[in-house]
Amino acid sequence: MQEIFDKANEVLRQVQAEAPTDKESLEQYRIKYLGTKGLIKDLFGGMGKLPGDQKKDYGQLMNTIKQAAEEKYEALKAQFEGSAEDAKPDFDLTAPGYTNEIGARHPISITKNRIIEIFSCIGFTVAEGPEIEDDWHNFTALGTPKDHPARDMQDTFYITVDKNTLLRTHTSSVQIRMMESQQPPLRILMPGRVYRNETISARAHCTFHQVEGLYIDEGVSFADLKQTMFYFVREMFGQNTEIRFRPSFFPFTEPSAEVDISCFICGSKGCAVCKQSGWVEIGGCGMVDPVVMENCNLDPKKYSGFAFGMGIERVTMLKYQINDLRLFFENDLRFLKQFQQA
Ligand code: PHE
Repeated sequence: MQEIFDKANEVLRQVQAEAPTDKESLEQYRIKYLGTKGLIKDLFGGMGKLPGDQKKDYGQLMNTIKQAAEEKYEALKAQFEGSAEDAKPDFDLTAPGYTNEIGARHPISITKNRIIEIFSCIGFTVAEGPEIEDDWHNFTALGTPKDHPARDMQDTFYITVDKNTLLRTHTSSVQIRMMESQQPPLRILMPGRVYRNETISARAHCTFHQVEGLYIDEGVSFADLKQTMFYFVREMFGQNTEIRFRPSFFPFTEPSAEVDISCFICGSKGCAVCKQSGWVEIGGCGMVDPVVMENCNLDPKKYSGFAFGMGIERVTMLKYQINDLRLFFENDLRFLKQFQQA
């Protein structure tokens, strides 16, 4: 039985003497000793021929050989994989690389930020309110009785059957929240998303953005409102921009006006954007109705104020000459990329 031991010791000596020099010879080494038909596997076969009292010794010898073979294999493998000359990359170095796409701000955000910047220069701070509103803040406190046509004007998405909970139709609801919770002087800008049940077209969408302004203090007049609007449009659209107020109606302001600016696209000569009139509308405004102040527990004999509201999409369309409102909601990168760095 000694010859079985001799054979095994011979394999151990061989393993110790082996010195593969590269990946290929290492693979041959692996197959020769550690492969499924390799020498070590073959030696295990000898076990059966041994008498019981020698099996243990033989088993230990086997383990020593196997371990030695495996350790050498693992060490050399790590060495060859790490060596520079053999490090052939398994990817195509000539293929174009992945680029990190740099995102751009959405044009609506750009305009919103610019509006905030302009008004912050004259002391306005920013506030936001909830998009899911109640009837009080969106309509009733703003002087809109239950059967008032203004409720139809703004086709509302109601959430509850009792029509008390709704998606706000304008940011004027935030005016109420501000007047209810703060004492004048108030100088607040309120940007946000609003919802109306409109048929989607190039000029209308069921969701869009407004920015609301509110200024309340002692002795605020319509002249202050005009000057504030004048300052804003010149900062936003250029120093030659002219302004025009047209009488209008809102349930929460009296008097009310629609604000037009001179068409900076054609220089007021008349074009498709201004429909040949030389003027384009940018929003509504007016003096806060005394009833609205009373609804919010402010004394209209002591305080007066103005409010205005603009569509952010509308301002953006004018500023960048975009002719279809739907582009803002489609997230087409070809459109959005044009605003990079803007
Ligand atoms: N809330 C009005 C609208 O959505 C705009 C507006 C705001 C008018 C503030 C006057 C004062 O049309």
